[in-house]
Amino acid sequence: MTNTPDPVALARAHEIYRYAAMFDLVRDFRVGLNLAFYRTFAVPRIAELLVRTGEMQRQPHKRSMDTGLFMYELIEAGFESERGLRVVDALNKMHQRWPIDPEDYRYVLLTFVVVPTRWINSYGPRPLSDRETDAILYFYRELGRRMAIVNLPATYQDAEQIFDEYELKNVRFSSAGQALMQTTEDVMARQLPGPLKSAGRLLTRLILDDYVARAIGLKPAPRTGQALMRAVARIRRRRNARRTPRNESWFQPGRRVDGVYPGGYEFEELGPPNLD
Ligand code: HEM
Repeated sequence: MTNTPDPVALARAHEIYRYAAMFDLVRDFRVGLNLAFYRTFAVPRIAELLVRTGEMQRQPHKRSMDTGLFMYELIEAGFESERGLRVVDALNKMHQRWPIDPEDYRYVLLTFVVVPTRWINSYGPRPLSDRETDAILYFYRELGRRMAIVNLPATYQDAEQIFDEYELKNVRFSSAGQALMQTTEDVMARQLPGPLKSAGRLLTRLILDDYVARAIGLKPAPRTGQALMRAVARIRRRRNARRTPRNESWFQPGRRVDGVYPGGYEFEELGPPNLD
């Protein structure tokens, strides 16, 4: 591995990102990371591989929960902890057995940077600071380095540019993407905060960009719905002054997950079978 990062800068970036995602803007990061996950269905090459491996349709709930759990394990523990090292090792093992285009790899990595950032900046209780945005990029650059992903952007602006250019070229409708979205739609609704659960499908359409919604076979959301979302975001911002961050992380490794791990999970249970 080349370009080993400065350990002090990496520890600082991890601390800033972990605080924002696990203590301060918890709900919004969770929505943003979910959006990143579903967004990849809009790229036919990625969707087709996900369909081919079968896990996504066999166990959509476990598959999407596990994706989140792997990522939260890593955000919670950082790269140098035992748990973090296991996450990266598992990620490398599970991807190495498939033929994956390096540009697709880089794009998926950047979805974790750009999608939650844009979501929070548009609809969160406050926009992310430059310090937070830089920390998120630093963190995922390190994940990329450890997954041997090349040509990583040096700045957030570069990350957005690569992300947008890739989507312009690659986001298209595919029946694989549509099938994936159909099987996981109710999983997505379950992630939403209580009062919004019943409006799951409409909300899914509302929180996806129009061209992404079309590519996964959904009708883009009505304009009135989008205006309402913006109004809700404005109200949240006004109330922001009264918001207090949590005093402990929302995520405990091995935690209970309704419907998938009702009694909690062991690390080995995460991910597709036969990883070793
Ligand atoms: C840095 C980028 C990426 C990250 C962080 C990432 C993350 C993950 C995670 C956490 C899982 C585990 C889900 C589970 O438990 O089943 C997973 C599985 C998977 N990912 Fe990725 N992924 C990335 C890039 C990609 C790309 C670009 C593709 C395809 C083009 C891809 C295809 C797959 C497949 C096929 C599986 C299931 C593996 C299997 O069932 O054997 N991933 N990924």
